[in-house]
Amino acid sequence: MIRQSNKEQLKYSNNAFEILKGFSFPPLELSRTEKLEWQDIFFDSIITEYDARRLYWHIDAKNPDLTIELEDTLKPWLRDEIDHAYGFSLIYSAYTGLPLDEIALDVETRKSDFSSLDAFISDPFKLLILFAYDEIITTHVYHRSIKKYDYFKSPQLSTWIRKAKKDETKHFFLFIEKIKLMYSHRLPEAPSVLKHLFKLDFEKRDYTGTFVLDHNTIDYPISQTEIEKTIIPTIIKKLNTTT
Ligand SMILES: [Fe+2]
Ligand SMILES: [Fe+2]
Repeated sequence: MIRQSNKEQLKYSNNAFEILKGFSFPPLELSRTEKLEWQDIFFDSIITEYDARRLYWHIDAKNPDLTIELEDTLKPWLRDEIDHAYGFSLIYSAYTGLPLDEIALDVETRKSDFSSLDAFISDPFKLLILFAYDEIITTHVYHRSIKKYDYFKSPQLSTWIRKAKKDETKHFFLFIEKIKLMYSHRLPEAPSVLKHLFKLDFEKRDYTGTFVLDHNTIDYPISQTEIEKTIIPTIIKKLNTTT
């Protein structure tokens, strides 16, 4: 018999498999429009989380030394993102009644285009800033979603969205700390890199399966102004905070 150590038990007790075990939706009181909106939200959550692995594969193909150099940051990050994609797939499956393999087929047959990220993938400092930028925005999105998820009155869904938000916060600080550790000499460049990123993010008309830079949609819960005036200054502040 294989026994799990306490540490391993703790590590896996907080993942989608445990939180969403046997999950089903409580009876829903939603209009047809609301039903479709939630379907889109759950599906978009699967694909953006799923695309973390595509971004990882892309970085690894373009710059294999980098995935080795950043392994202690990228591996725990990717493990969580894989878990997020799985969790949202379980939720979407419970919501739509579709089996997981059908959902996976829709998710995996999409195409990705990483060409807009070339300048970031060739420069690890810029890449880490890109990750920090994306993770803090996702943290805000999930934070804002908590109330909406609580509306379902499902303890599992409420636990799930809080866990996802907590993970995204953890990722943001993981990347911030890595930047400070490896690139303290380049911190003065951070504002211009963020300015470039912000421009790119809102120039892109469509999401191209890149995990990052998916914030330019009309219904995105965080506004362009908020990203520019509040979120970017917070990133700069955290980068310049000595711990
Ligand atoms: Fe995530
Ligand atoms: Fe994340």
